[in-house]
Amino acid sequence: MNIEVLLTEAEIAQEFAESLEARDLPEKFFYWTPMSVRRWKELSERSEESLKATWESLAAKAADLTKPFGGKVPLISLGAGEGLKDRVFLRALAAAGRDVKYFPVDASQTLLETAVAGAEDDDIEVLGIKADIASHMHLVLASDVSEAPRLFLMVGNTLGGFDPMDQIKQVADVIQKGDILVIDARLRDGAPLPPRVEQQRFVFAPLEAAGVSPDDGQVEFMENRDDRLDGLYMVTRRFQAARDLRLQAGAKEVPMARGERILLNFRYLYTAEAFRWLLTEHAGLRVVGEMSSPDGRFITAVCIRA
Ligand SMILES: C[S@@+](CC[C@H](N)C(=O)[O-])C[C@H]1O[C@@H](n2cnc3c(N)ncnc32)[C@H](O)[C@@H]1O
Repeated sequence: MNIEVLLTEAEIAQEFAESLEARDLPEKFFYWTPMSVRRWKELSERSEESLKATWESLAAKAADLTKPFGGKVPLISLGAGEGLKDRVFLRALAAAGRDVKYFPVDASQTLLETAVAGAEDDDIEVLGIKADIASHMHLVLASDVSEAPRLFLMVGNTLGGFDPMDQIKQVADVIQKGDILVIDARLRDGAPLPPRVEQQRFVFAPLEAAGVSPDDGQVEFMENRDDRLDGLYMVTRRFQAARDLRLQAGAKEVPMARGERILLNFRYLYTAEAFRWLLTEHAGLRVVGEMSSPDGRFITAVCIRA
C-alpha cells in the first residue's frame, strides 16, 4: 500500500494530549481512533443517501468536465475519508477510457488505508497522502504531487469542519489555472433539529477513547450565527464534566475538574448565497457549475481559478 506520510501518528497523539489540555478538540480527532471511525461510518450512512444522486450525476459529467486535461487526470481528494464518493468519480473516468491517478489526502490512517485499498481493488493507480489539510504547508505539498491541471474534490461537508473563511482561502491558494475544484456544503435549511443519536455518539467518541463515559458529563449542541457573514451558522458541541475526571491521552493523564468544559468539533452550515460568496468574492474562485441534492440539504459547486 502506497502512503506518503506528512503527519505522523506520534504527532497526532501529541496534539491530542495538547488539545485535551487546551479543552479544544479539532476535527481530525473525530476520525482518528477505531471507535471514532466506527461512529463516523454509522453517522455518514444516512447523509450518503442524500448525496448519492448528486454524485451519480456529477460522475456522469466527469469525463466531459476533465476533457481539457488531455490524457491524464490526477484526482486529489482533500479529506477523502473512505473515498466512497471519490470512487464513483474515478470509476466514471476509467469507464470513459481516461487515465486516472488518485491521491486521497486525510489525517486518519484507518480511513486513508480504506480509500487506498478501495482504489487498488478497482485497479486504479493510487498514492495516499497522510496530511493535515488545515496546514497550508501540507496543502501545498499534497497538491504538488502532480502538475496542473488537476481535479480537486473537497466533499461530504468537509469544509464545514474548519473555519470556512480561513480554509477556503487556503484551498483556493493551491488551485491553479486549469485545475477544477468540486466542493460541497451542508445548507442550513430551517430550524435546527435536535442532534440524532448517531451524531451524539460520533462527537463523544474521542472522549470515550480518553476514558470518559456518558454519565461523566453532558454534551451540549448549540447553533449560533457567525457575525462575520450573513448566512453563516456554526453548530458547536461541548462537553461539561459532571465530576472530577482524569482524561487519558496515551501515557499522559489530563485532569479535568467538575464543571469544566471541552469544545468538541464544530460544523458550519450556510445559506446557498453565503456559500457562493465564500467561493467567489472571498476566495477568488469562479463557480462554473452548481448542483443541489434532491432533498435540498447539500449544494455542490464546480469551481475554477477566476
Ligand atoms: C466529513 S468527513 C468527509 C469524508 C469524505 N470526503 C466523504 O465525503 O465521505 C471529513 C474528512 O476529513 C478528514 N479530516 C478532518 N480534519 C482533517 C485534517 N485536519 N487534515 C486532514 N484530514 C482531515 C477526516 O478524517 C474525514 O475523513
